[in-house]
Amino acid sequence: GSTRFYDFKVQMLKVNKLCSTRDIVTINQMYPGPVVYAQEDDRIIVKLTNETPYNATIHWHGVRQMLSCWSDGPSYITQCPVQSGQTFTYEFTLVKQKGTLFWHAHFSWLRATVYGALIVYPKTGVSYPFKYPYEEHIVILGEYWQRDLVQLEKNVTASGGGAPVADAYTINGHPGPNYNCSINDVYKINVVPGKTYMLRLIGALLNMESFFTIANHKLTIVEADGEYTKPFTTDRVMLGPGHTLNVLVTANQKIGRYSMAMGPYMSAKNVPFQNITSIAYFQYLGATPNSIALPAPLPIFNDNLAVKTVMDGLRSLDIADVPKEIDTNLFFTIGLNVNKCGSKTPNQNCQGVNGGVMAASMNNNSFIRPNFSILRAYYDHINGDFTEDFPGSPLRFYDFVNGAPNSPPNNTGSMNGTRTKVLEFGSRVQLILQDTGTITTENHPIHLHGYSFYVIGYGSGNYNPQTATFNLVDPPYMNTIGVPVGGWAAIRFVADNPGVWFMHCHLEIHLSWGLAVALIVKNGQGPMETLPHPPSDMPRC
Ligand code: C2O
Repeated sequence: GSTRFYDFKVQMLKVNKLCSTRDIVTINQMYPGPVVYAQEDDRIIVKLTNETPYNATIHWHGVRQMLSCWSDGPSYITQCPVQSGQTFTYEFTLVKQKGTLFWHAHFSWLRATVYGALIVYPKTGVSYPFKYPYEEHIVILGEYWQRDLVQLEKNVTASGGGAPVADAYTINGHPGPNYNCSINDVYKINVVPGKTYMLRLIGALLNMESFFTIANHKLTIVEADGEYTKPFTTDRVMLGPGHTLNVLVTANQKIGRYSMAMGPYMSAKNVPFQNITSIAYFQYLGATPNSIALPAPLPIFNDNLAVKTVMDGLRSLDIADVPKEIDTNLFFTIGLNVNKCGSKTPNQNCQGVNGGVMAASMNNNSFIRPNFSILRAYYDHINGDFTEDFPGSPLRFYDFVNGAPNSPPNNTGSMNGTRTKVLEFGSRVQLILQDTGTITTENHPIHLHGYSFYVIGYGSGNYNPQTATFNLVDPPYMNTIGVPVGGWAAIRFVADNPGVWFMHCHLEIHLSWGLAVALIVKNGQGPMETLPHPPSDMPRC
């Protein structure tokens, strides 16, 4: 492969949206940020210079970072943030990677505006497993906030209260005509009748999952999380934050203007739903300018069946290389809970349910972000930054779905800690993720850094090893799994990439509440299996 250089300057940009002007954090004053183009096996070198007053890091979401964990990006996990005025260079190789991925900030909630596409084309001479479309377009689903996102995160965690809602949902940064002062702030794709288009859909939302559809048109999914899938045709897709999907669309309808629409998928019960959608236009050549766009029907906000239909359709294109035997069996509960007031910091305002504090946990542990990079502390044998006692199965299991609804919820008072789970190099891991929760059950998009994994099974209710069935033939190979509402998902992967790898809910509010763990994969025996040395320009905390 070749080497591609990019200059990323973290800079403020003045934007005028939703009837007001404000400064947002961006890369190179672009919103969405610059597209990184590459080919499979290329080396990527990105020099990040921070010209804002905020801290910043960039995570290359979906890049497996084989033996390059120092460039992964999550702040306080693999690196200290790049402070105002500092520079850090990310370097990694896209080993056996292709397709639609993306990059985003990984400090506080800055990724709300700091994101962009990472497009990896096949190697020269290698073709797509489908007829290459007439044109391709990047379509990024996002959220727009009129608040300072670093301050917002601090306020929300300090209040102990519920999740805040974005000021607008966006398509490629545009809210679309449903929002105030946004009649002309609309993304548009011009299409030629009869031609086929590939949309590279990217879920860059902050605190919401979403449905996406185009009025009167079918979408054929051909790739998910950067891996080819068996073609699957549907009216709509669900895209969680952290997911990417390539879909083919043929402009085979009457000449006209059609809505491309995204609307929130709010799986949580008892949460006020705002019935707003972001609209873009899929506009045929020859359509009357400014004609009314045909509306695109979206599923209702909590349509779990629509989600399941899409999930069922995702199959890897070829026979998958799934580990058939496993030697590390993990079971993690994931969910929201209410902790006692003051359990995290004495001065929390305790605006959660019943005067408690909103929290989220994995195996009854709410992850506390450390003050120093876990990877650096691990590498340099520095004590005190983290512990290695994350449990391999839950300490307390409250059966919210099938259990006794009248018994007191027993995952109130989850532990707080920077707990990590250590894995032996080369171990063949099976991990069951079980949604549980005492407030509500909810679909959690769980993302693993440093790996893709096979999603071999999922279901509703509690995981039961006697009845669960697994697909070991053609499961999708993904980096983010939407664990079904009140249900479970099973994933498998081989721990062959040493480093410290964050695993967390990609809903930012849940991450702030502690729905995370860091996996430490130890070194192997061979010279090509050990951690590289840290780069010399690594920022300090
Ligand atoms: Cu895309 Cu740790 O995240």
